[in-house]
Amino acid sequence: MSLLRPVILGCGGYLPETVLTNADLAKIVDTSDEWIHERTGIRARHIAAEGELTSDLGTEAALQALERAEVEAKDIDLIILATSTPDNTFPASAVAIQANLGITLGAAFDLQAVCSGFVFALSTADNFLKSGQFKRALVVGAETFSRILDWEDRSTCVLFGDGAGAVVVEAQKLSGADNDRGILMSELRSDGRHREKLYVDGGPSSTGTVGHLRMHGREVFRHAVTNISNIIEETLARSGYSAEQIDWFVPHQANKRILDGTARKIGLDPEKIVMTVEKHANTSAASIPLALNVALEDGRIQQGDLVLMEAMGGGFTWGAVLVRW
Ligand code: UT7
Repeated sequence: MSLLRPVILGCGGYLPETVLTNADLAKIVDTSDEWIHERTGIRARHIAAEGELTSDLGTEAALQALERAEVEAKDIDLIILATSTPDNTFPASAVAIQANLGITLGAAFDLQAVCSGFVFALSTADNFLKSGQFKRALVVGAETFSRILDWEDRSTCVLFGDGAGAVVVEAQKLSGADNDRGILMSELRSDGRHREKLYVDGGPSSTGTVGHLRMHGREVFRHAVTNISNIIEETLARSGYSAEQIDWFVPHQANKRILDGTARKIGLDPEKIVMTVEKHANTSAASIPLALNVALEDGRIQQGDLVLMEAMGGGFTWGAVLVRW
């Protein structure tokens, strides 16, 4: 039997040049490196330069992913950009990336699932490619959260950073065997009853302003550990793999304590969890592809490895994607 299975051919990342450390933040708000690192695992984050847009970050990450995948931009017929910080309310920032790359083929659109955005975008690309509607996709997560932070609110401004990551995904005719490369499955969830626990207090249809990020941190934390543990267990149960068979867990990077708590709850080996939160902070939809990029660059993730990505974010939204690299 042969079937179309989307295979990840290459990954890229981009972090803006400016690094803002916890010590730098302590000069702006009443905080300390000790508090931030102990509660979150974060030491530093990157901040986009004035005039540097989400689409610029996404374009840089996409260019690196294309180069490593050995795919030319003209052969991409689908771009999905996961972002909650688009350049403008419309058009989609994905079309800016499309134009920056000189692509005129196919379709480009934004997808908004906050910190779960990359998982939602990869799952969406998976379904488009499996159906045969598109052949080769760029899935990008890019954010400039620094632009929606309230820099006087120490409970939120210390948590986030800017950045972008991207993967090139191609539909390939494969046998359908479990040891074939490619996206094996995905699970997506949302529960809008929790939409006011992590939100932006502005928008085109409500206030007519961009607004600032607001969060009930403790409640988000509690739900995050439960939802992430559940989605990992559900994905493993449906796929038939055990946690021991997963080579690498590449989670959304919100808080080291959330990742440690999840690992304890469901018995994951902490050595198998890729963590970048220390240097990147929470880059929302960019955090998973940035973490993938780090683990590929340092040689941890190898072809044939089983990689489980998972995320939870505003909405709430949460989900997981299982890939044979
Ligand atoms: O991407 C997915 C979405 N985001 C998340 O998953 C984040 C989820 N939440 C969290 O990671 C944690 O709840 C936080 C890191 C945001 C906060 O940690 P916490 O242990 O839940 O602290 P808290 O909010 O309960 O605050 C404890 C204390 C408070 O002081 P009092 O009331 O005990 O006197 C805060 O005012 O820490 C104070 N505080 C700070 N102190 C120094 C809050 N922010 C800061 C700060 N520096 N930056």
